[in-house]
Amino acid sequence: MATFKTRLSQISKSNGKVILANDYDSSEKNLQNKTIQNIKKLNPYLCAIKLNFHLLLPLSSKEIIKINKTAHDYGLQTIADIKLNDIGNTNRVTTEHLWNLGFDAVIANPIMGLDSLKNLVKSSHKEKNGVITLCHMSAPEARLSYDMEIKMGKKQQLYQLFLNWALTAKVDGIVVGATFPKIIQYCSKQAGKNLSIFSPGVGTQGGNASEVISSGTDYLIVGRTILNAKNPVNVAKELQSQSI
Ligand code: XMP
Repeated sequence: MATFKTRLSQISKSNGKVILANDYDSSEKNLQNKTIQNIKKLNPYLCAIKLNFHLLLPLSSKEIIKINKTAHDYGLQTIADIKLNDIGNTNRVTTEHLWNLGFDAVIANPIMGLDSLKNLVKSSHKEKNGVITLCHMSAPEARLSYDMEIKMGKKQQLYQLFLNWALTAKVDGIVVGATFPKIIQYCSKQAGKNLSIFSPGVGTQGGNASEVISSGTDYLIVGRTILNAKNPVNVAKELQSQSI
């Protein structure tokens, strides 16, 4: 079986670089059906679907398994966005559950430390699954934490340390917000082909798809701009064409 990174790259060759953030408010009914319909309608314009706590908390294991299976039937990869950040034992048990639910990758927070991150990558790669770590988040206030100057050997900013840890731990990709194109450019230059860059924050949060792609992002993570559109298929199609 190919690795997560290869599987995602293969499907993106035909389907483009858009990952659907399938986030719904807690007032929404029929989350399972809505998600399955999204996969059925939008799959030609997506390479993956990302599930957040919006679905992971209210839905049963059976429902999540069915969603992941449907996504796989249509060739899409699935990512659990839980920003995992814990001690080794808890990370291990959590990812075992995620893999049993059918996920292909997990988003983790590198603040857990380099050794824990290396262990998480090792155990995930053994199962041919992926780890994506936060590098610089998309919200404007993220500047306060991710741009923080630290002294770790040399003076640097926190996101630079997270980028170095991502490279050292050999994670599959990093999250850099679409609202920070200069930081995407920096990370892309430093990481080359060693890391894929995932950028949330296009549309609703202000990021521009073409600018983000030309800055070096490999995959766009998009939620509300597609989900709340009058015609989600047209919006997904348009984003797909901007990301080629
Ligand atoms: P919207 O609706 O703004 O949704 O298109 C964006 C999705 O991405 C998640 N998000 C992030 N995830 N690092 C992440 O790992 C980030 O910096 C970040 N910013 C937004 C958000 O939870 C939603 O699912």
